[in-house]
Amino acid sequence: MDIISSKKPGLKGRIEIPADKSITHRAFMFSALTKGKNIITNYSKGADCMSTLKIIRQLGCEVEFINDKQLIINAKNALIKPLSPLDCGNSGTTTRLMAGMLAGQKFNTELFGDESLSLRPMKRIIEPLELMGAKFEHNNYKLPIKISGQNLNGITYNSPLSSAQVKSCILLAGLFANGKTTFIEPYKSRNHTELMFEYMNADIQIKGNEITVSKSELSPSAITICGDISSAAFFIIAALITENSDITLKNIGINETRTGIIDILKQMNANIEILNEKTVSNEKVADIRVKYSDLKATTIEGSQIPRLIDEIPIIAVAATQAAGTTIIKNAQDLRNKEADRISAVTEFLKNMGADIEEKQDGFIINGKTKLKGNCETDTKHDHRIAMSAFVAGLVCEKPVKIKEFEWVNISFPEFLTLMEKLY
Ligand code: S3P
Repeated sequence: MDIISSKKPGLKGRIEIPADKSITHRAFMFSALTKGKNIITNYSKGADCMSTLKIIRQLGCEVEFINDKQLIINAKNALIKPLSPLDCGNSGTTTRLMAGMLAGQKFNTELFGDESLSLRPMKRIIEPLELMGAKFEHNNYKLPIKISGQNLNGITYNSPLSSAQVKSCILLAGLFANGKTTFIEPYKSRNHTELMFEYMNADIQIKGNEITVSKSELSPSAITICGDISSAAFFIIAALITENSDITLKNIGINETRTGIIDILKQMNANIEILNEKTVSNEKVADIRVKYSDLKATTIEGSQIPRLIDEIPIIAVAATQAAGTTIIKNAQDLRNKEADRISAVTEFLKNMGADIEEKQDGFIINGKTKLKGNCETDTKHDHRIAMSAFVAGLVCEKPVKIKEFEWVNISFPEFLTLMEKLY
């Protein structure tokens, strides 16, 4: 599906952003590890989370859809051997967390995915899982991967990467391992696994960046999932750069391992208010009000990166509209996402007329630039590139054509409908 994005006079209104993708994956997978009935309220309907839901059904869970917002996951005594290989689609989170969940089961499984997922690095999970005694068959650490279920032993793993997917994979394997499993990371990555393990009564200790789990069962739970701050980010920046905008996004997750985007934008002089804070299912939630702002450049690096890794493409769009030079560095893992996001962002922004220089681990962006648009761009089969290009189109002088926009469905099928409510 090709679409056109063009200049808008201002975004106004109050909308609800769909459920957090990271938390939905975890709610589905961790429910599968309980013995009983779990009620999930407000789950992500993106294709990635649907890949996870399909897999837990293949592993023996019953899923009952109650209404548009609620489903029940009925988990049996234990997971069962699936009849066929498990399709992770485009989803890195499904693959890496499932590998941890399945490595210590009493049966063998196989994970596979689409073309992009089959190129993504899995050494980061295979190596530590092998240290726990897991056994795999793979070609150069890429999907498809065969997992032969083993008795696992706990390890202490000093991860070279700050990655929530690697951390969650090892902690999930730790639920089935003998002894303690400790995961240590350089900077804190998103901690939804730790918070949900606590909520579901796992045996877990959290000491800063060092997390320890022991063999334990998860309790069946009722989990209500907040709006996704990574999806909200596209609306926040759309409002910040479109003159006359004033929008409110309701019920957004503001877990501090995810709010790097808010901190950085405030540093860039953004007019953002956090309202009605509360805690829901062990996660902090609030409404976010955003008004058009005169943005200034900033530098983003080090421990800030894991707190906004998925928002960097859209932050780059904001930087083109900020006065001065924005530097983004230490973000080399962006090259391992659904697309190489460093080169994809540079390509579409250059095309639109931005002053952006590609670096191995980030960008240098000079603003404020009048983007001319009047071009065609493609999504590189990456949902976040699709939405970032759309938002950049809102401030281009002439319309932009975005090809294969349907990739948005990976995380945010409701994106265009919600955007249209604000024009
Ligand atoms: C995720 C972790 C991040 C993020 C991804 C979702 C998660 O990946 O980019 O979109 O749900 O754990 P990494 O752990 O590879 O940084």
